[in-house]
Amino acid sequence: MKIKSLIRTIPDYPKPGIQFRDITTLLKDAEGLRLTIDQLAARYRDQTIAKVVGIESRGFIVGAALAYQLGVGFVPVRKRGKLPGEVLGHDYALEYGTDRVEIHTDAIAPGERVLLVDDLIATGGTAEAAVMLIRQLGGEVTECAFIVDLPDLGGMKRLAALGLKAYALCEFE
Ligand code: PRP
Ligand code: ADE
Repeated sequence: MKIKSLIRTIPDYPKPGIQFRDITTLLKDAEGLRLTIDQLAARYRDQTIAKVVGIESRGFIVGAALAYQLGVGFVPVRKRGKLPGEVLGHDYALEYGTDRVEIHTDAIAPGERVLLVDDLIATGGTAEAAVMLIRQLGGEVTECAFIVDLPDLGGMKRLAALGLKAYALCEFE
């Protein structure tokens, strides 16, 4: 509850009708930040995770802190054209048009157990694209973790349909 209460809602951002769930107010609160990372770390500490994968850009903040706490490496999934080495890419649908996420082809070794992390899941399109990349590299996605779930947008169900477990610290209807 403490975590949810520290997340600010900005109406009509980035466009009319969107209730933007802003985690910057959670991140700037020392106790809130610690609680967030500690709660996730407690859940994944004994799961022999090899890598944490975080999705650009808010997923980097949570993912890197969590990887540090778990004592494992961090791998970024980035938007198109940002990674310097050889990449694998996956296109996915947005509300209007498409976008693309990429991962370095040597970022994950076949068989590695991977925890996918982002700040928020809405439609699940971004997380699904990241899962496709991890699986193409031979990684095993043990679970997908988020601070916020927006259940009305169906992202968790979309991940479940891919045979994935998913977890969020709080949800906003
Ligand atoms: C937000 C959020 C997730 C994604 C969720 O990222 O951080 O990555 O949208 O939406 P979905 O479940 O419908 O795919 P955004 O693309 O706004 O990028 P940002 O983190 O750089 O702000
Ligand atoms: N990403 C997709 N939908 C969002 C929302 N409502 N708030 C914050 N980030 C989002």
